[in-house]
Amino acid sequence: MARATAIITLLGFLLICAAPGQTNKERYVDIYSFHINSTVTSRYAITVITSRVANRVNGSKEVHFQVKIPKNAFISKFRMTMEGKTYDGVVKKKEEAQQQYSQAVSRGESAGMVSSVGRTLEEFKTSVTVAAFSKVTFELVYEELLQRQHGKYQLLINTRPMQPVGDFKIDVYIEESPGISFMEVKGELNTNELVNAVTTSRAGDKAWVNFYPTREQQTKCDVCGENGLNGDLLIIYDVERPKPSGELKASDGYFVHYFAPTDVQRIPKNVVFVIDRSGSMSGRKIEQTRLAMLKILGDLAEDDYFGLIIFDRQVEVWKRKLRQATEMNLELAKDFVRMIQARGATDINAAVLKGVEMINKHPEERSASILILLTDGAPNTGVSDPTQIQANVKEAIGGKFPLYCLGFGFDVNFDFLNKMALENNGRARRIYEDSDADLQLQGFYESVATPLLTDVQLNYTAAGNLTQTRFSRYYNGSEIVVAGQITDNSLDAFQTEIIAISKNSKVTYQDSVLTKGLAGVLPQHENSIQRLWAYLTVKQLLEKEVALTGQEKETAREEALNLSLKYKFVTPLTSMVVTKPQGEDTQVAHKPKEGEKVKQRQRSQSDKLNSHRSKCSGFGRAACRSSGHQTAFRMSGSRPVRPSDGGLNSRVHRVSPTRQRMMRLLVPKAPQLPPSTAAPPVNDVRFLSSAPDQPKPLCFDLPATSKLRLLMDPSSNFSMSGMLSSKGFRVIALQYKTNHNLELSIGGIHYYDGLNTVTFLWDQKPTNHETDGVAVILRKDELDVTMGTVRVVFFRHKKDGKKFLWPVVQQQPKNVNIQGIFGKNSLKYEELPGSVIKIKDQEVKATWSTATDYRCSSAPVLGCWLVPYTFVLQGELSDFMTCRRCFKP
Ligand SMILES: *[C@@H]1O[C@H](CO)[C@@H](O)[C@H](O)[C@H]1NC(C)=O
Ligand SMILES: *[C@@H]1O[C@H](CO)[C@@H](O)[C@H](O)[C@H]1NC(C)=O
Ligand SMILES: *[C@@H]1O[C@H](CO)[C@@H](O)[C@H](O)[C@H]1NC(C)=O
Ligand SMILES: *[C@@H]1O[C@H](CO)[C@@H](O)[C@H](O)[C@H]1NC(C)=O
Ligand SMILES: *[C@@H]1O[C@H](CO)[C@@H](O)[C@H](O)[C@H]1NC(C)=O
Ligand SMILES: *[C@@H]1O[C@H](CO)[C@@H](O)[C@H](O)[C@H]1NC(C)=O
Ligand SMILES: *[C@@H]1O[C@H](CO)[C@@H](O)[C@H](O)[C@H]1NC(C)=O
Repeated sequence: MARATAIITLLGFLLICAAPGQTNKERYVDIYSFHINSTVTSRYAITVITSRVANRVNGSKEVHFQVKIPKNAFISKFRMTMEGKTYDGVVKKKEEAQQQYSQAVSRGESAGMVSSVGRTLEEFKTSVTVAAFSKVTFELVYEELLQRQHGKYQLLINTRPMQPVGDFKIDVYIEESPGISFMEVKGELNTNELVNAVTTSRAGDKAWVNFYPTREQQTKCDVCGENGLNGDLLIIYDVERPKPSGELKASDGYFVHYFAPTDVQRIPKNVVFVIDRSGSMSGRKIEQTRLAMLKILGDLAEDDYFGLIIFDRQVEVWKRKLRQATEMNLELAKDFVRMIQARGATDINAAVLKGVEMINKHPEERSASILILLTDGAPNTGVSDPTQIQANVKEAIGGKFPLYCLGFGFDVNFDFLNKMALENNGRARRIYEDSDADLQLQGFYESVATPLLTDVQLNYTAAGNLTQTRFSRYYNGSEIVVAGQITDNSLDAFQTEIIAISKNSKVTYQDSVLTKGLAGVLPQHENSIQRLWAYLTVKQLLEKEVALTGQEKETAREEALNLSLKYKFVTPLTSMVVTKPQGEDTQVAHKPKEGEKVKQRQRSQSDKLNSHRSKCSGFGRAACRSSGHQTAFRMSGSRPVRPSDGGLNSRVHRVSPTRQRMMRLLVPKAPQLPPSTAAPPVNDVRFLSSAPDQPKPLCFDLPATSKLRLLMDPSSNFSMSGMLSSKGFRVIALQYKTNHNLELSIGGIHYYDGLNTVTFLWDQKPTNHETDGVAVILRKDELDVTMGTVRVVFFRHKKDGKKFLWPVVQQQPKNVNIQGIFGKNSLKYEELPGSVIKIKDQEVKATWSTATDYRCSSAPVLGCWLVPYTFVLQGELSDFMTCRRCFKP
């Protein structure tokens, strides 16, 4: 009988980030070389990924190539080389590619090679059959213009080769005349064990980042394992700006102009927030919105004016007119925000028009007006025809100020919001429903918080085919980019003129550059400015097209298509057809549409970083989904079963006889149900350990009076101890370095950061507190703590009238010296016939039982194999006991 082997992960925390995949030591397919080469010239990044793979066995094997690239990028080349032949992807008009490919599609096989993963990345995936002892080389090129946000550019390189690679290299070369003002390398690949694999160097206007981890390092780091590296390298930088008029670069008849003046005073703003409080916003979304709004209000400057509108089927205004952001008004507004409750339907039309009216009534004197709409649904009451709303809003705003639309979650009609924003000089942004949604909202707000110029017009002599030259706002931390073709190369000088309105006056910037001085680009990047121009033109045409109609729309599409084909960009209008060796299916790479098929569970590392604090956010749900019981329920319906759907028992009764038979078929040796003992003995607390590849978690009981060492990492001086009560933990104490102490109890939370003590109450409003290397975030019955490389989420549960705490280690270093009962992170266990469980060389008779999974806020009941704790912990209780003095009186 086949033995099921599984890696058990104590309390399942690694599952959230862990990647499934082959783990066999002996690899038939060997990626012997994996190179990523990224060259950034004047913000334009061209990245080449080259993977060389050998089939080491005497038989043909399917070889996979799977990489993640930024959403903003266009793929511009894909090639496979094997047995002396090259197979090049060909970029075609989308419909043509579709035709060629429709047969495969009709066979029901998903032909797509590219899918959206998480917030910032897309995944490119293909495979090919490689003959015995043969090799294949995959090469993928993608291009993107790095956008300046919050005062910096960010180049993101994701890597997950799925196995350790002998020759692994990431090379980044950046050239930014007149100079790089700062640069830093971040991301999981630049932490801990891998730090010495990263080298950076800078000379004048050039910078290099090289990442050459050894094979050993690829398996020993925090974000890697048997399958090698899995994480991001983030290169963050900004450039010198000696001239207020910006930087001009040209080559081969094309130019680009970067304009981001810093010597400008901020313009006071009139901002109106229009906030959806319809029923669908209830729960966490409205809570996060309140949290974000409180922070945003706190950040308004005293000379700003602001208004608040909340709406469901009714539109409610905080005050009828805009109010100045004085301390007193802000306090009143905050009180109003705290009272916002979700209810009712969604009347977007009336709410936005009210906002427009408020701004229009306010005298606009040397100020910049902004309207921000936040919604999570589609209009469904009042005027609910999207086209009609768009027309009404466009007419009411009349181009006078921008409208930004924030779509919360995936139930919004994003196309509708996007069009409405683009028609009104604004932008739409998706807010992902995650634990950091409040930070996403704040991040968006910050990007428009400081208007420096309005009505910016850029003019160029002797230039044509220009990208956008009029911008309604220029915000601090951003950058205006214009590219075009130089039409008269005989001129000695190329002239620019920028006219804009600043806080106090109309301003003009002028610059004249000798055309000779413009061509300062290295020969190998000769056409990178031309490609940049093409990239920007296509992006802008695609945006413009959204708001156009009729012939104009057709022309914009056609121009974008023509350029995409000419420059071989895979855009929403084109696709890349990849023809493979005879006998294999052709595949097509389409650009996924925003919001399409987002695989939330495979959140990218960058997303985690972008959200600062939330290393693996969407935590509660993700943790519960990946714990054992979901697998166990999979056969009782194709719909994913949520923990809140009930525990094991309630579910099992509903399983039909046929399904029960199926369960037996699908799960050999299905344990006898119902469980033999339902509850742990009095005075014992039951713990669960999930197995990712296995439906059955293990569980064990610990005496309730224990004072336990939960997690200790000597390398980062982190320790966590806990005192059990009859249900869960009564007190938990964390220490980090010498000066950080955090103590949680049912009553509240005290955090001492070396200087001050901060106290939180579980019932207070959500808040957060961050100091160097430590982040403490309080949500409802949930405290999220990051200390250095460790992240733990604590839930406060209530059962039988008793409150208790439960920690879930979300992230910890993969350090061999980690101690404590949550410190063992991967033990293999085998299930033998006759309810026998084997770990290492020990075998033990297990009992099929149940446990409440307190690792989820919903606390579902799961079936589990009950074994003695000594067996799972591989030690005696005394090994995990800690001293009384670890708990302050
Ligand atoms: C990276 O690409 C650039 C430009 O194509 C090339 O000059 C350079 O040699 C490449 N670097 C490596 C290490 O392959
Ligand atoms: C591969 O297999 C074939 C047929 O099974 C055999 O003839 C050949 O000798 C094998 N080659 C190697 C290198 O083992
Ligand atoms: C713009 O942002 C920079 C930091 O990115 C800050 O130093 C500067 O003071 C800001 N300018 C204004 C006018 O707020
Ligand atoms: C700048 O260009 C715009 C549009 O082409 C034109 O209307 C305007 O007169 C120009 N301004 C100057 C100062 O050349
Ligand atoms: C603009 O681009 C088109 C197509 O590439 C070209 O035919 C035309 O000459 C360009 N116009 C200018 C003014 O450069
Ligand atoms: C696009 O290319 C086609 C074929 O080359 C050409 O006929 C058409 O005029 C072009 N359209 C635009 C808008 O440039
Ligand atoms: C950990 O603590 C020890 C002794 O208290 C100290 O010497 C060491 O520098 C600390 N390490 C870190 C990473 O803070």
